[in-house]
Amino acid sequence: MANSDQTFSKGFEMRVREDFAEAEGAVKSASSRLEADPAIFRRLKREHGEMANLMKQIFGADVAVRISLFPKLARELRAHGFAEEHSVYRWLARYGATREGAASSARTHQDLEALLGTLERADFATDAWMKDFGLLMAVTQRHFAEEENHLMPHAQELMDDTDFAAMDASYQAAKGLKAAN
Ligand SMILES: [Fe+2]
Ligand SMILES: [Fe+2]
Repeated sequence: MANSDQTFSKGFEMRVREDFAEAEGAVKSASSRLEADPAIFRRLKREHGEMANLMKQIFGADVAVRISLFPKLARELRAHGFAEEHSVYRWLARYGATREGAASSARTHQDLEALLGTLERADFATDAWMKDFGLLMAVTQRHFAEEENHLMPHAQELMDDTDFAAMDASYQAAKGLKAAN
């Protein structure tokens, strides 16, 4: 394997790690602020945390780890995004204050899908792969922070427990559908 998979620049690696840590800090401070989260948001935050952990394990890892963990990350990101679009984002799209946020988050899901496709087609053993993975990791963590710091608090101002219960049910149904595909 030589060390061809470990030679991407230290400057790049540090930038990605710092960027990720900053977005992760924003996510953590949002999580501690919202103690009375509805179940659907606790679920989304837990899944964000699980995906962030997977990304941290893959970033900078050797090719065997990349090959074994990346498919799991890709599957979880896709199922999570698909289910959000079929539940939470549909509720957000009903209100003027959150409509654009929902649309822009759905566009970010498309960007993430394009990055996942690029990574799946590329050679996992190269520096280029890890650079693109660093980009995926940074964009994903920023997206999680946007959802947790902006969309969820806005939704809590606009919606009630009935909305959140329906959202949670449709999220789980959509996630099951996607997992069955
Ligand atoms: Fe999302
Ligand atoms: Fe999310």
